[in-house]
Amino acid sequence: MKPATRTRRFVAFLAERLPAEKMSLQAMVQKKEVPVHRWSWAYYLGGLALFFFVIQIVTGLMMLFYYEPSVATAHASVEHLTNNVPGGALIRNLHAWSSSAMILSVMLHLLTTFAMKAFGRPRELTWVSGVLLLFLVFGFGFTGYLLPWHQIAVNATKVGLGSIEQFGEYLPGDLADLPRQIRETIQGGATVGQATLSRFYAIHVVVLPLISLGLLGFHLLSVQLHGMSPGVDRPTGRTEKFFPLFILKDLKVWGVVFLMLAVVAICIPFDAFLDYPLGAPYNPLGSTPDGIKPEWYFFWMYYPLELLPFWLVAGGMGVLQVGLLLVPRIFRGTSRKVLRTLAAAAAVYLIVITLFGQAIYEMFSGGH
Ligand code: HEM
Repeated sequence: MKPATRTRRFVAFLAERLPAEKMSLQAMVQKKEVPVHRWSWAYYLGGLALFFFVIQIVTGLMMLFYYEPSVATAHASVEHLTNNVPGGALIRNLHAWSSSAMILSVMLHLLTTFAMKAFGRPRELTWVSGVLLLFLVFGFGFTGYLLPWHQIAVNATKVGLGSIEQFGEYLPGDLADLPRQIRETIQGGATVGQATLSRFYAIHVVVLPLISLGLLGFHLLSVQLHGMSPGVDRPTGRTEKFFPLFILKDLKVWGVVFLMLAVVAICIPFDAFLDYPLGAPYNPLGSTPDGIKPEWYFFWMYYPLELLPFWLVAGGMGVLQVGLLLVPRIFRGTSRKVLRTLAAAAAVYLIVITLFGQAIYEMFSGGH
């Protein structure tokens, strides 16, 4: 194909996905209609993910006033925030519970937009920006986990970073050492230490938020430009006004969810919910606690890594990540019925491995 033709087609592709003539407040808000059908509830999930993201930013900013990103004082600063600062424990709990709630809502949002074929033309870029947001959300989880600098957090991060080095076993010659170099570059040295804490802190509170805000801006612009996808094969034809009706309903959902989150954050300290309290600061000479596990939202890859050959799971993960980005292409001609079945199968896998992963692991590994 001639380069000129390729450029013309690319420009036409972009013009259809980012129609300049629709980029007015009136077109994007006042005229926008939301389809009403049996899957309309799914349109609230993106909004919920957005709401939790806002809670993360607000509670994160508040904790920044007390958190000290140094191996000598990080743990003490979190302990001080939790035990001495008025409202400190509540803010930290809100941040911890809302992070889980955000990841849950993003996962549900992905599954429902997939099942509704909301990635179809012209919403391909909405989907792709969504997948990139998903990767960032997991990045938030992995980097935030280290910041309290206690025995479990540091050792779990070591295990996580250690899996990078395992790739070396499958690479030829000098390349075999590359994964170790990548790991040491990420952690800023041969072991997890001050350089790692500083980097994870900078990534968690500056790099990821900035990239996420940019991507989210694009994601929401793309949604506003094209409106909500019909979502079902036979749309009812009924719609409701986005502004003010749908927005008011969104706010009502946020209000109810915030109340529930606040009650949980007041009643159940996040540390108590997990099988490890804030505990003692990391001691490099201390023993590695038994049964270290990552946060629940990593179980879908953690337990397969525990049970299956590394190359198989790592390969599968690579295919999954590329496959997610190419969904609009791969499933372009797929019926919603098949998409719903695939989404349901993925949901069943995520529920089973998250709730029963440990039991399955003990069953197949004989408890080793
Ligand atoms: C931080 C993460 C995310 C936030 C805050 C977010 C936010 C939103 C919001 C507010 C909407 C409009 C309302 C709705 O349809 O729910 C939306 C739509 C959409 N999102 Fe996301 N999203 C996120 C991640 C994702 C992910 C991970 C995917 C898929 C991989 C995705 C794919 C889509 C698609 C395809 C639409 C269009 C829905 C339609 O037209 O029916 N989003 N998103």
